[in-house]
Amino acid sequence: MLAQKVAVVSGAARGIGLAVARDLAAAGCVVLMVGRHAESIAAAAAQLQASGHDVLPHAADVTDASAVAALAARLRREFGRTDILINNAGVFLEPRDFAAPQGASVFTVAPEVVAATIDCNALAPLRLQQACVPLMRENGWGRIVNVSSGMGQLSDMGGFWPGYRMSKAALNALTCLTAKELAGTPIKVNAVCPGWCRTAMGGEEATRSADEGARGIVWAALLPDDGPSGGFFRDGQPIDW
Ligand SMILES: NC(=O)c1ccc[n+]([C@@H]2O[C@H](COP(=O)([O-])OP(=O)(O)OC[C@H]3O[C@@H](n4cnc5c(N)ncnc54)[C@H](OP(=O)(O)O)[C@@H]3O)[C@@H](O)[C@H]2O)c1
Repeated sequence: MLAQKVAVVSGAARGIGLAVARDLAAAGCVVLMVGRHAESIAAAAAQLQASGHDVLPHAADVTDASAVAALAARLRREFGRTDILINNAGVFLEPRDFAAPQGASVFTVAPEVVAATIDCNALAPLRLQQACVPLMRENGWGRIVNVSSGMGQLSDMGGFWPGYRMSKAALNALTCLTAKELAGTPIKVNAVCPGWCRTAMGGEEATRSADEGARGIVWAALLPDDGPSGGFFRDGQPIDW
């Protein structure tokens, strides 16, 4: 009998990550829900457990290398495997007033804000894949989904919000180079833009629900063996880098 797939979803306490955790559990995975606040991730996991989903909370700040090492140790100890990694945790630290973008200009942004954004949105996914890929290799199967954004597309780069845009462009680069190093292995990595979703980050004006945004991420997490790797997708369709 095939072992139940183990999925790790970062930033799963709310928004798109919570919807992805629910949908992966509904698809038959056991889901380790990662959040940086113990109480809120425990509450989110309890909510899904109450609906019969096989999920567990795990408190970790993904920007903290020792916390990610502890997560890797738990995965090895408790499950001996990691099949799916969803790099969903993200921050948007610049002023997000779309009517007045000058508040987030490349000429005035604090470089520290850019660095903190890249730390969470691009370097934490690097840390998490370093933690999870060894177990994927051992078990001969893996899917990594980097939750990116159209705001990171070099082919359509607008002005303003340099921290967020640079962080997602870096995450896209990480996706490409990881796919190159994993070529010929049974591990796939793709970047997915969920679209503009009504979450704490996306705001109430957004055009999609978190559930709609989650769909394309779950699609990439459950790709069959002949599915793509090293691509950028929205709603299961390729988009430009
Ligand atoms: N919403 C959109 O329109 C949109 C569009 C394109 C891409 N995205 C991407 O989609 C992903 C999810 O966004 P969302 O809209 O669901 O945002 P959200 O509601 O703000 O949720 C982000 C989640 O990430 C967690 N997180 C942030 N920093 C963390 C850290 N250092 N360690 C662990 N967890 C951390 C947050 O935890 P706390 O609860 O502790 O803050 C929160 O649970 C992000 O990568 C975002 O860039 C969103």
